[in-house]
Amino acid sequence: MGVVRNLRQVDADAAGVDVAFRADVHAGFGQTPKAIPARWFYDTTGSALFEDITALPEYYPTRSETDLLTRHARDLAAAIGAGRAVVELGSGSSTKTPLLLDAIAPAAYVPVDISGEFLRDSARALAARFAGLPVYPVEADFTQRVDMPREIADLPKLGFFPGSTIGNMVARTAVDLLRNWREALGEGSLLLIGIDRIKDERVLELAYDDPAGVTAAFNLNLLERINRELGGDIPVENFTHRAIWNDVFARIEMHLVAACDMDFVVDGRRYEMTAGETIHSENSHKYGARDANLLLRASGWTPVASWDDTDPAFALILAKATAFRSAP
Ligand code: TRP
Repeated sequence: MGVVRNLRQVDADAAGVDVAFRADVHAGFGQTPKAIPARWFYDTTGSALFEDITALPEYYPTRSETDLLTRHARDLAAAIGAGRAVVELGSGSSTKTPLLLDAIAPAAYVPVDISGEFLRDSARALAARFAGLPVYPVEADFTQRVDMPREIADLPKLGFFPGSTIGNMVARTAVDLLRNWREALGEGSLLLIGIDRIKDERVLELAYDDPAGVTAAFNLNLLERINRELGGDIPVENFTHRAIWNDVFARIEMHLVAACDMDFVVDGRRYEMTAGETIHSENSHKYGARDANLLLRASGWTPVASWDDTDPAFALILAKATAFRSAP
């Protein structure tokens, strides 16, 4: 069994309410159109619903990425090399991780996730499976500054950022995040990142609005979480899930649409919505090959290799934190 030592970097008040969650909900509901940062999807219920999404026939990204990791294990090993500390951003249930760890013979594994309970369970399962591999779970919001465990300070590092999670950020935030992680991991580090490509919008819309309604339940759970944790009385049954392709921004948008006029209270504050008004709850940006390379280069990461699935299109890109050179 590997070592599991938990680091917690999330702030809660005396009543156990996540301070950042409360602040984000009030700020987001005070805006027009209303919006909530997507990271709040992932309480224990949301994380479990997300696992269900990844098993849906319409939701191809998980399968595509798993296939890529399996088919190209040898090439990945050759390009990455042994002995690195693998730092996974938003590890969730860590289902893809064993494929990578099996391929590359790492020196340590650092899963970083905002859902503490989920993180501890999957870290324990992973440590049991990889005997002798030190596992240092960090409970933190990876979009903020995250301190790395001391134990990996002297190891070469590989950031692992699968699931096209980078697509859930707007371009500016994506660049901030990639630059921050370049700082945290250090020059010479590698990054293996999963990127979903632009494709037929019907394929995309089905992936984010499945007929079984799992993605709808995942989206609506955000409102239930607000009710549960922030003492809200949002009438969740009066909302519907909507996923639409925004071609200008090359992204799928998820919204919660109010079916009627309503008002509700959250944490002592009253909010109003009119029929048809939406809460924008998620974006999933898609990137062409050059778009993705530009995003990485704008953030100080030089693409060094990529493995592409074509149907539906999805890519794993390996990039390196190279020394900065302006011109030429
Ligand atoms: N990053 C993945 C994607 O955009 C997973 C994801 C995040 C997701 N939020 C989601 C999937 C909401 C479905 C619905 O596809």
